[in-house]
Amino acid sequence: MKKIGIIGAMELEVEELKSRLDGAKVTKKAGMDFYEGTLGGAPVVVVRCGIGKVNAALCVQILADLFQVTHVINTGVAGSLNAKLDIGDILISKDAVHHDMDVTPLGYAPGIVPQLEESYFKADKRLAELALESCRKVNPDVHALMGRVVSGDQFIAKKEVKERLISIFHGDCAEMEGASIAHGSYLNGIPFVIIRAISDKADDSAEMDYPTFEKAAAAHCARLVADLVTAI
Ligand code: ADE
Repeated sequence: MKKIGIIGAMELEVEELKSRLDGAKVTKKAGMDFYEGTLGGAPVVVVRCGIGKVNAALCVQILADLFQVTHVINTGVAGSLNAKLDIGDILISKDAVHHDMDVTPLGYAPGIVPQLEESYFKADKRLAELALESCRKVNPDVHALMGRVVSGDQFIAKKEVKERLISIFHGDCAEMEGASIAHGSYLNGIPFVIIRAISDKADDSAEMDYPTFEKAAAAHCARLVADLVTAI
């Protein structure tokens, strides 16, 4: 039987999904509240993991061990690294990489996790395609594309840092949890997809734009995820 883990870093990113849950049972673990119930008839566990890669990794492991989820969806906001992605648009993951993994002094390329077969963690193709279809259905006016998520424990708000993420990693959006969720899902053999709405341009305007647009961006994602879980 399918059971879908849905992770958002912030309350804003999961509050709408939580409000739509039927029969929610709450389990506390590692400082996180796991809401288990159904969303449009689909069995789900919705959780706010907190910001950053450590919180995100712990959360995936708990979803795997305690709830035996069969799929993982990460929803939230991100900064755009692609001129084709404007504020309010949606990026659906093709893959995800840690931009702050740096073992270059030992001869590894940036982002490569030594001794791991994969460092550009591939999203499940079917989940990504279904997410794109759901987006077209519920957010017909929102522009969506598939691309690369780059993650690190940093809020990107400087043009030079943004340029580095584009030139080295060919990233389409930057955020702070996706690659960890991808990495954890990969290690546990669980198909995943990351769905991020753009809240800022990850440059010198990001500090101003982010608080203005995060709410609307998160709402686009929540609507998409609510439809997607019924299609999986
Ligand atoms: N989440 C939303 N915008 C972001 C940015 N610019 N950097 C990192 N995470 C983000």
